[in-house]
Amino acid sequence: MPTRTVITQPFADQKPGTSGLRKKVTVFQQQHYLENFVQAIFDSIAAPQGATLVLGGDGRFYNRHAIQVILKMAAANGFGRVMVGRGGILSTPAASCVIRKYKTFGGIILSASHNPGGPEGDFGIKFNSSNGGPATETVTEAIFAKSKSLSQYRILEVGDVQIDAIGNSVLGEMTVEVIDPVADYTELMKSLFDFPAIKALLADGFRIKFDAMHAVNGPYAVEILQRMLGAPADSLMNIIPLEDFGGGHPDPNLTYAHDLVEIMYGDNAPDFGAASDGDGDRNMILGKHFFVTPSDSLALLAANATVVPAYKKGLAGVARSMPTSAAVDRVAQALKIPCYETPTGWKFFGNLMDAGKVTLCGEESFGTGSDHIREKDGLWAVLFWLNILAAQRMPVAKIVYAHWARFGRNVYSRHDYEGLPNEVAEGVMSHIQGNFSKLSGLSFGKYTVKYCDDFSYTDPADASVSAKQGVRIIFTDGSRIVFRLSGTGTEGATLRVYLEAYDADVANHTLDAQLALAELIQIAQQISELKKRTGREQPTVIT
Ligand code: G1P
Ligand code: ZN
Repeated sequence: MPTRTVITQPFADQKPGTSGLRKKVTVFQQQHYLENFVQAIFDSIAAPQGATLVLGGDGRFYNRHAIQVILKMAAANGFGRVMVGRGGILSTPAASCVIRKYKTFGGIILSASHNPGGPEGDFGIKFNSSNGGPATETVTEAIFAKSKSLSQYRILEVGDVQIDAIGNSVLGEMTVEVIDPVADYTELMKSLFDFPAIKALLADGFRIKFDAMHAVNGPYAVEILQRMLGAPADSLMNIIPLEDFGGGHPDPNLTYAHDLVEIMYGDNAPDFGAASDGDGDRNMILGKHFFVTPSDSLALLAANATVVPAYKKGLAGVARSMPTSAAVDRVAQALKIPCYETPTGWKFFGNLMDAGKVTLCGEESFGTGSDHIREKDGLWAVLFWLNILAAQRMPVAKIVYAHWARFGRNVYSRHDYEGLPNEVAEGVMSHIQGNFSKLSGLSFGKYTVKYCDDFSYTDPADASVSAKQGVRIIFTDGSRIVFRLSGTGTEGATLRVYLEAYDADVANHTLDAQLALAELIQIAQQISELKKRTGREQPTVIT
């Protein structure tokens, strides 16, 4: 079959962020744009002739087109086999699972995660290595460098390949193997959790509601929650994956998963609620009239891990991203296991897991996971919670209260200022960066600054240093304010302010996080001059 070498012009804007290259669909639709980046990947990863690749995405608009392009380019670039999820579908955790299970050279995942989809929405692409996790910074830097200098790419000149029926077909010298996108992942989940116990819990009338947000996890949830664990059909909502996620914003938080939130806070609310995002790696956990913060969820999973068969021998260690609350640190201390603090983004956890240093990890941004794969995992978190609930047979809120009574509560909230002009957001950050060194020792009401820094991390695996990961202002009582700019937005800049206050005496204090954090919110305003510099009275999203 004829391989065509196409002359392309390099693009200057293909720098992969913490989660790959994310752009508007309209950007990806420019001539040669996708092809240029894919060739840059192939030129950077040094795959041996005949290597196997995994390929799939979250099914958003442009997914099917990109799958065809990548298959034809993989064939023209010497790959021997591509395992592609049926219909071009693989959730991010499922892709990680398949890469590891079949020991492939790596995989390409098509997703813009929780960003909206459709012709006006976002698209994304990233390369995951043979450990199943996002490529290292060295690799993504090499891809970026290539993308800026490429002058040609290789593609097979053939018609489209069928990807909608399981089985093999041939593309040039390469085999295209269409796999069931759900089967391998389901098998892995079954091997980790106590399915009979969860099944019994549901059979006893424990009511759940899972919102797939018209995103990739719908079919996974139907197979696992409904078919295998026996949850009634009406326990699941928005299970049909749609190219534009039904017009919604597939981000499982209190703002964007409002339909589920309304049900969980309404009359006759179910006992447990959960949602996952566009590509299935994020999760939100709710009880009846109760929201579990992701930071608390991570701490609670760590504290109760031994009820889950896969973790019954205990945890090697835990890790959290720097802006995530220190709730899990307290659990680690009690369990006498190490706790690592990493920069934002999942790839830092991967190195710790590959080195056997941590078993569980998580981020405040609704991402939780373990060493079963090298991505965060939404349904895994849901099953972990159900396993704990099956063991404890207590309401979600009671389990959390009991946790706080034992460890204290790290009251937590994140305030996002989205869509700021880049120069305004950078102005706020440089103002803070220019001033934080003067804050040490200063008192603001009852809070005294212990120290401040711009977070820097040295990876214990390869000694690589990631600097300027966000400014931390740490107070003498352990409370914190963190400022950082988002690395995943596609429109303007997003400034994130993370607020955390430690409360050792929960029983006597308000449960309302915004109230409890009011003083810290004021201090954050004062230090950052946020209102003056952005003209914004309120954050866009509060979680
Ligand atoms: C956000 C989250 C971060 C997460 C990333 C990818 O990145 O804050 O925790 O790893 O999405 O899901 P940010 O936009 O803050 O750079
Ligand atoms: Zn995601």
